[in-house]
Amino acid sequence: MCGIVGYIGNRQAAPILIDGLARLEYRGYDSAGIAVFDDGRQDLEIVKAKGRLSELSERLNGRRLSSVVGLGHTRWATHGRPSDANAHPHCDCSGAVVVVHNGIIENYLELKEDLIARGHSFRSETDTEVIAHLIEEFLKESYDMETAFRRAVRRLQGSFAIGAICKSEPEKLFAVRNESPLIIGIGSGENFIASDIPAVLSYTRDVQILNDGEFCVVTKSGVIISDIDGALVNKDVMKIQWDAKGAEKAGYPHFMLKEIHEQPRAVKDTLSGRIDRKTGDVVLNEISLTDQQIKAISKINIVACGTAYHAGLVGRHLIENLARIPVEVSLASEFRYADPMIDESMLTIVISQSGETADTLAAIREAKAKACRVLAITNVVGSSVARESDDVIYTWAGPEIAVASTKAYTTQLVTLVLLAIYLGRRRGLVSLEEAKRLTDELQRLPGNLQKVIADNEENIRRYAKLLRDCESVFYIGRGLDYAVSQEGQLKLKEISYIHAEALAAGELKHGTLALCVEGVPVIALVTQKKTREKTRSNIKEVKARDATVIALARESDHEIAGEVDYVLWLPDMDDMLMPTMLVVPTQLLAYYTAVERGCDVDKPRNLAKSVTVE
Ligand code: M6R
Repeated sequence: MCGIVGYIGNRQAAPILIDGLARLEYRGYDSAGIAVFDDGRQDLEIVKAKGRLSELSERLNGRRLSSVVGLGHTRWATHGRPSDANAHPHCDCSGAVVVVHNGIIENYLELKEDLIARGHSFRSETDTEVIAHLIEEFLKESYDMETAFRRAVRRLQGSFAIGAICKSEPEKLFAVRNESPLIIGIGSGENFIASDIPAVLSYTRDVQILNDGEFCVVTKSGVIISDIDGALVNKDVMKIQWDAKGAEKAGYPHFMLKEIHEQPRAVKDTLSGRIDRKTGDVVLNEISLTDQQIKAISKINIVACGTAYHAGLVGRHLIENLARIPVEVSLASEFRYADPMIDESMLTIVISQSGETADTLAAIREAKAKACRVLAITNVVGSSVARESDDVIYTWAGPEIAVASTKAYTTQLVTLVLLAIYLGRRRGLVSLEEAKRLTDELQRLPGNLQKVIADNEENIRRYAKLLRDCESVFYIGRGLDYAVSQEGQLKLKEISYIHAEALAAGELKHGTLALCVEGVPVIALVTQKKTREKTRSNIKEVKARDATVIALARESDHEIAGEVDYVLWLPDMDDMLMPTMLVVPTQLLAYYTAVERGCDVDKPRNLAKSVTVE
């Protein structure tokens, strides 16, 4: 995720900005930059570089920037590849307005077209640059910077935290927050803005946290906060007690827990700009396949590893259901050596959080060698998977730091729902009304994910104590519930080191039922309407053998409570959207069990975040 730092005071700004950005490095980034108001030249200076902060520092070496005000940014690419040009800060045509931005401007294309028609020229592929040009437009109308900034922000749709400076008012920093975090650090004779607290902790522990829709004008001697209508806002100053390490995790004990809690936000970002606001249809501009080509697809092969493979298992149900294209899901490590029967009439979809997994890359090469088109779903812009594939849909989960994948999986699932609807629409099998019904449901997902966490986390902490000393845990489900069971069991295994196994519930009595004896935990996933009755019978089978059953069920499924030992409840949604919510309690259960067992949750033994070797 991108990082923002702004400084205004009496000290040299550039080293403070670089130091603040370094403290946000844990969030991940692919380029960085700063802009300072150079007192000597009375001008705004921008220095930026693709790559690590060390590259930026190298570019700054030997430059005498005398400045007490500036903005810095680390960029995690979304719109446009990682490059010097796409790195922030961005400026308007005249170079008088400079902005940094986190988040996504959903309507940037239409704004950009309008600005180009008004004579603006753009230097980057980013959504961010439109902000600087919009402000420039309003400045031309003789507004002061604060008014121009407010007017420009009013034109933006999407999520954003923005910092801005302007040549004509160099003694001020301007900022706004809308669905992307932004804080103000209060110093003595100096003040800061930042996207996250660690950036300012070396200088101050006094912090104000902006709410959505709040603007601030920061000078070295004070901060004025106002709401969307310009009314002044009085805000408490918080004293931060965490150390820098704790602050990176925003107060969570582990990155994994932080990332689980980030899922509502990550899902919202991934949906952003992909649902037409007027019609409710799915918009996937990143796919270059024509309708003709989509209609002609004879088969889809989904290829991935680990968690991404499990997302593919869900994707298979969605695509077969909505687009009626046969789908085969393969492990990349198997696919590459299987001499797969694929050809140019098919489509290969690869899924990879990191975009660097060696087996997945080999699978892309195998598909391309057989003239099969490749569509990638990945979280990392400019990654090898993205570069080698014909089309790419990015999940906008932000960097995932914990080895155990959580928000990458849920954003892969919503991407697959979007893709399945899109393919179904192009093949004439999904009506606009049906697409709208599903996308309306998708928009409810972030709120429902929040609810799943809030309603169940406390109980899950207690159930984790039950699992702590177990040797084996079984996960059962059918259809989409079975697909999610496979992800649930992997989570438990990889971070708590307890043996776990997922079973298609109907397979129990073909063997594994022999292991379901007194006290053995069985996690029963029972959200799919079509197979509910069948799974209930399987629950009865294991209960009859005195296994301890924790069910994950719909809120409306009252009968379940009387048939199992414990229940975790989920809001009612369309069957196809249940997996995205269903996985969350399994993530939390794995997390709290691992904590109970004293495991190193974020860095499980023997595992790496990105498997770049075979
Ligand atoms: O980066 P990728 O999505 O290609 O990684 C694939 C697997 O290594 C990964 O999903 C792994 O299984 C998870 N980290 C487990 O939580």
